[in-house]
Amino acid sequence: MARWGVIGTGDISDRLVSDLAHVEGAQVTAVWGRALDRARAFAATHDVPVATDSLAALLGRPDVDVVYVATPSHTHRDIALQALAAGKHVLVEKPMASTAAETAEIFDAAERAGLFAMEAMWMRFNPLHVEVLQRIADGEIGAVGSVRASFGTPFFPRGRVKRPEDAGSALRDRGIYAVALAQWTLGEPDSITARVTVTSGVDTGGNATLASATGFAQIAWSGTEFLDLSAAVAGERGWITLQPMFWAGSTAEVHAGSAERIFASPEIVTHARVGNGYGPMLEAVEESLASGETEHRWHGRQQTVAIATTLDRIVAAANGEDR
Ligand SMILES: NC(=O)c1ccc[n+]([C@@H]2O[C@H](COP(=O)([O-])OP(=O)(O)OC[C@H]3O[C@@H](n4cnc5c(N)ncnc54)[C@H](OP(=O)(O)O)[C@@H]3O)[C@@H](O)[C@H]2O)c1
Repeated sequence: MARWGVIGTGDISDRLVSDLAHVEGAQVTAVWGRALDRARAFAATHDVPVATDSLAALLGRPDVDVVYVATPSHTHRDIALQALAAGKHVLVEKPMASTAAETAEIFDAAERAGLFAMEAMWMRFNPLHVEVLQRIADGEIGAVGSVRASFGTPFFPRGRVKRPEDAGSALRDRGIYAVALAQWTLGEPDSITARVTVTSGVDTGGNATLASATGFAQIAWSGTEFLDLSAAVAGERGWITLQPMFWAGSTAEVHAGSAERIFASPEIVTHARVGNGYGPMLEAVEESLASGETEHRWHGRQQTVAIATTLDRIVAAANGEDR
C-alpha cells in the first residue's frame, strides 16, 4: 500500500486526506504548503510526520510513492511534471491541467517514466455513478439520446475560482462535471454551441449544447447564480435522474422497465456517502498502484484528455471559433 505526499493544504486536501486515513494501508508521510506554518498546522491536524515548504524536499523523499496535487489548477501541470521527473506517481485534482494539451503532456511524461497518473475525478468512482453508468451500459434505458446537467451556486467556497491570478474558471471547476457525465453517456460531441460569461478575466458561468449524431447534452455552470443541481440521462426506453448534487450525490431515480416505473414510481437507487466521498477513488488508485497500472481504466488518459478537449472547445465555441 502506498505512501502519499500531499501538495497543497487547502480545503480539498483537508477533506481528501480525512478520507485517505480510512483507506487500508494508505499512509500520508509528508505534506507541502507554500507557507510552512500552514503545512505544519495541516500536518498536526492529520497526523502527518513531515511538513515542508520545499517542493524539492518533498519530491526527493524516498518514503513518498505517490503525490496528490491539490493546488490551484494552473499550477497542476508544472507540479505534476516535477513529481513525475522525481519518480513519483501522481493523482492530480480536477481539472488536471488548464488545457487538453497540458493534460496530454502529463500523461506523456507518466508513460515515459512508467508511472501512474490520474485526474482526481471522484465522481466516476462514486458508487452511485458506477451503478448508473453500468445500468446504462447494460441497456436499461436504451440508447442514450440526451443529457442535461448543471452546477451553479452564487458563491465560490474559497474565492479561488474567482481570481484571475489563479486562472479561475467556473467552466473548468464546475462545468467539468457536466461535461464528464455527458461524455461518459453520449460520447464526444461533433458540434458545440456555447455562451460563456467573462467577468474581470474570469469565466463565471455559461451554458452549452454538445451535439452528436446520436443525441445532445445541455449543460450549464455558474459561480454567480443558482442552477438546478440535478442531472438526467435519457434514452429510448426511459431515463435516470441523478439527484442534487449530481456529481457528489447518493440517490438516483430510474424511470424504466414498465409504465408504472417510468411514470408513477421510479426505482430509487441509493448509495450512502461514506466520509467525504473520496474513499472509492482513493481505493481505486491504491489498486492501480498495487497492480502496476500506469492509468485507471475508468478515468485514464483517453477519458481525461477527451473531457479537457471538450472544455477547450466550449471556450472556442463561445468565442465563435468552434462549431
Ligand atoms: N475533487 C473535488 O471535490 C474538488 C473540490 C474543490 C476543489 N477541487 C480542486 O482542487 C484544487 C484546489 O482547490 P481548493 O478548493 O482546495 O483550493 P484552496 O482551498 O484555495 O487551496 C489551494 C492550496 O494551494 C495553495 N496555493 C495557492 N496558490 C498557489 C500557487 N500559486 N502555487 C502553489 N500553491 C498555491 C494554497 O496555499 P495557501 O494556503 O498558501 O493559499 C492552498 O494550500 C483545484 O484544482 C480545484 O479545482 C476539487
